[in-house]
Amino acid sequence: LASIEVDVSSLQAGMSLTAKWRGKPIFIRNRTEKEVEEAKAVALADLKDPVARNANLPAGAEANDLDRSAGEGKENWIVMIGSCTHLGCVPLGQAGDFGGWFCPCHGSHYDTAGRIRKGPAPENLPVPTFSFVSDTVIKIG
Ligand code: FES
Repeated sequence: LASIEVDVSSLQAGMSLTAKWRGKPIFIRNRTEKEVEEAKAVALADLKDPVARNANLPAGAEANDLDRSAGEGKENWIVMIGSCTHLGCVPLGQAGDFGGWFCPCHGSHYDTAGRIRKGPAPENLPVPTFSFVSDTVIKIG
């Protein structure tokens, strides 16, 4: 299937789900205000990978929180391919030193915007092409 639609109506703030798209896990998280605030507070200069890696934006977009998220008005939502950019293990959610995701294979820590902050992974978790087709359904691909 080229694209999938995922119903996210059951995700309250702080909840997430993992969908499957093109054989890969897709992490969808409805972030809490605190998680968004934490991600927003990080200076670009402190990021190992300052590029958004968001397929919905120009290739050079910066990895600020807005451009990592579903965008204006939907900043609480984050959608990412759940494949560690080191060697492809599946990171664990709400884990690691930055409260985002943690890859147990070799210890990569991602923040609440899925940006690599510590460990061997070179890049932020990639954001796939996606859009909200309604308030509660996300189309991926
Ligand atoms: Fe994730 Fe190596 S595959 S840290």
